Formats: sequence, C-alpha cells, structure tokens
Amino acid sequence: MRKPIIAGNWKMYKTPKESLAFLESFLPLVKGHDRDEIILFPTMTSLAAVLEVVAGTNVRAGAQNMHWLNEGAYTGETSPTMLTAIGCRQVLLGHSEQRMYFNETFERVNLKLKAAISHGMDAMVCVGELLAEREAMQTEEVLRTQVRAALHNITASEAQRLVIAYEPIWAIGTGATATPEMAAEAHEMIRKELAHCCGSQTAQETRILYGGSVKPENINTLMAQEQIDGVLVGGASLVPESFARIVRYE
Ligand code: 13P
Repeated sequence: MRKPIIAGNWKMYKTPKESLAFLESFLPLVKGHDRDEIILFPTMTSLAAVLEVVAGTNVRAGAQNMHWLNEGAYTGETSPTMLTAIGCRQVLLGHSEQRMYFNETFERVNLKLKAAISHGMDAMVCVGELLAEREAMQTEEVLRTQVRAALHNITASEAQRLVIAYEPIWAIGTGATATPEMAAEAHEMIRKELAHCCGSQTAQETRILYGGSVKPENINTLMAQEQIDGVLVGGASLVPESFARIVRYE
C-alpha cells in the first residue's frame, strides 16, 4: 500500500566530486532494488550532477530547500522553476536545522509546499518536537500545530505529492534514537492530523518517515513498525556501504 521510502539527507556535506564518488560505489550496491523508493538530497552545488547520474536508475534526487516564488530579488535562494529546469522533482522542506538556525517558519513551509505541488514536485515536509517539549508532554500539540500550519489550505488531491518526515529534534545527530514504539506513537498522532486536514483516505495513503540517528544497527526494528513508512537518514547516508545496508533492511 504505502511503498517505503529510504531517503538520505546529505545536509552541508560533499563536493560534486565527492557526491559522484558516492554514487559510483552506492548505485551498484542497490541496483535493481525495488521494494523501497530511494531518494538522496545532496547540496545545491552537487544536485545537477547527481540528477544526471541517477537518471534512469532506481534512485531519485531532490533539493534540501527552495523558495516559493519563480524568480525575484532574493539573494541566495533557488526557485521551483530553476529546480524543475534541471530535472529535479523532489524537495525537502522545513527541516529542523532550517527552522533552528535560519528561522524557517511553518507558514513559509506552507507556501513552499504549495509551490512544489503546483510545479508537479513531490515534497517531504519535516516535523518534530524539542526534548523540552517532549518532557513537558507537549509532543502531540507541537506536531498538531506544525502539521496544520504546513498543510494550511492543501487539498486531499494536492496532498498526494506529500510525504511527512517525523524527526524529533533531540534525536538528530545525537545518537539518541526514538524507540520504535515512540516513533510509531508520534506517527499515529501525525496521521490523525493528516486526517483532520485532508481526510482519512489521505491520512492512510501518506507516507510518514522517521528520522534521527537511523543507522544500519537500528533500521530493522524501526522498519518493523507498521506505522513507519521509511526513514530519512543524515550521517549514515554519507557512506555508500552504510546507506546501502539501511536500504537493504530486513
Ligand atoms: P542523523 O541521521 O544524522 O541523526 O540526521 C537526521 C536528519 O536530520 C535527517 O534529515
């Protein structure tokens, strides 16, 4: 029903040369793998080269962010038309590092999501709570607010292009993974909000990924959870062998 997605977010790592060296090792390791969708999010300077190499393979590539307008005086930004012009049909939005360090808001994520959809792009929207929010038992409320803001005025048919990545901020790059049960519980909460925003069919069809210290060592137990429809991997996606082991979870 919901085909799992194994995605790698390379954050601010890898030059174009390093990105291509990764693919040279990685593509043969996952050749013919069709059980899951495989997506990579390289940096902007590597994206065009990566797209060219993965064309015609079972691996897709997308951008880590984008502006919502097609063009304008917005120094440092990249537009949806610029991305689609190089064959990019996938974008990651609202990553917590964008929210924490660059003041990204869920209102802007909503504008970006609408832009992605109207350009025929698939969008992966990240949500997740801080440790203090979890400890204060606010996880459900935080996820509700984030999902509702991101999906404001998005219709059920538009939401077909949406994937949600649940990334608890306290689990990112810390080695502290949410237990599979904690992740599954948060995914339930997100699915409930999806139903509220776009109806129960969308909620059942939308893939919700888990992200935060996913490694070859914990992928099997995470993927064993029915609520977890894939993973968004940071650090462990930078090394071909480790990311391929994650793709080939049991
Ligand atoms: P790590 O896998 O390095 O914890 O990063 C998770 C993440 O932020 C993916 O978007």
